[in-house]
Amino acid sequence: MTQPKHFLSLADIPASELRSILDEAHRRKKARAGLPKGVADIDAPFLGETLALIFEKSSTRTRFSFDMAMRQLGGASITASSNNMQIGRSETIEDTARVLSLFVDGIMLRANSHKTVVELARNSSVPVINGLTDYNHPCQIMADLQTLEEKGGQLSDMTLTWVGDGNNVAVSFINAAAKFGYRLRLSTPSAYAVSGQTISAARNAGAKIDLETDPLKACDGADVVIADTFVSMGDKDAEQRLTDLMPYQVTDALMEKAGPDALFLHCLPAHRGEEVAASVIDGPQSVVFDEAENRLHAQKAIITWCLTG
Ligand code: CP
Ligand code: NVA
Repeated sequence: MTQPKHFLSLADIPASELRSILDEAHRRKKARAGLPKGVADIDAPFLGETLALIFEKSSTRTRFSFDMAMRQLGGASITASSNNMQIGRSETIEDTARVLSLFVDGIMLRANSHKTVVELARNSSVPVINGLTDYNHPCQIMADLQTLEEKGGQLSDMTLTWVGDGNNVAVSFINAAAKFGYRLRLSTPSAYAVSGQTISAARNAGAKIDLETDPLKACDGADVVIADTFVSMGDKDAEQRLTDLMPYQVTDALMEKAGPDALFLHCLPAHRGEEVAASVIDGPQSVVFDEAENRLHAQKAIITWCLTG
């Protein structure tokens, strides 16, 4: 039996395959231009196939974009909260994986712990897609890179600056850096830095990563400035985080330092006045709604990669 193709971490997937996923995302988006949202792509490649969408925590974009992605690919999806499944009452991940593999053709899981997604994949005979964990958020970064390419950029020529918490989204930007060749500057307070192990592994794989605690210096001349919430789902110390991270708010001053052509990215949901000033996220350099839209197109390409041999 051939092993299923899981999409768990950008670090695990060869650069050439990630490149072909992004190409497919661009191609599919262009090919259906003008079609109503609920109409399937002309080739409807996954007619008769079903993706399970399981959530251990909240979601708007991931939930709706995966569901629409399966419809546009000609297939179907089943969405469930883990609270309403037996895993919420301590059925094992192993048994859940074995049972779901009998019913559906793929599983997307948003999990509290990265270990849960890994365990699901280990025991599943159908592909598993990581829809965000405490460790990373690979689907998001594929949509973000699609957005940057649409705006005319060559990723390998770009400098991306991450400002704020060294969280799950930051980790996926780190994991993708060697694959796409961009330079990544990380500007986080030291107490909120990404683990040295993740950074070393990426550097060993060829990633160009700079660490700069001063956000003004980190944004100097950047092509892209990226923010995310200061309090991610599952973080407990919200008040302390807001206090510690406020100096890392992306303000007009930081965007000016980057320059007039720099783009602003945020995966959403956003908190105006916390990690980003309203004038930045709602201003002309912001491409956050293109990013949100591209979740759909990037994920159609990810699903196609997973479900095709
Ligand atoms: N960006 C993102 O993953 O959004 P949701 O939490 O709404 O899915
Ligand atoms: N870092 C955020 C991303 C939400 C899409 C979180 O994990 O809550």
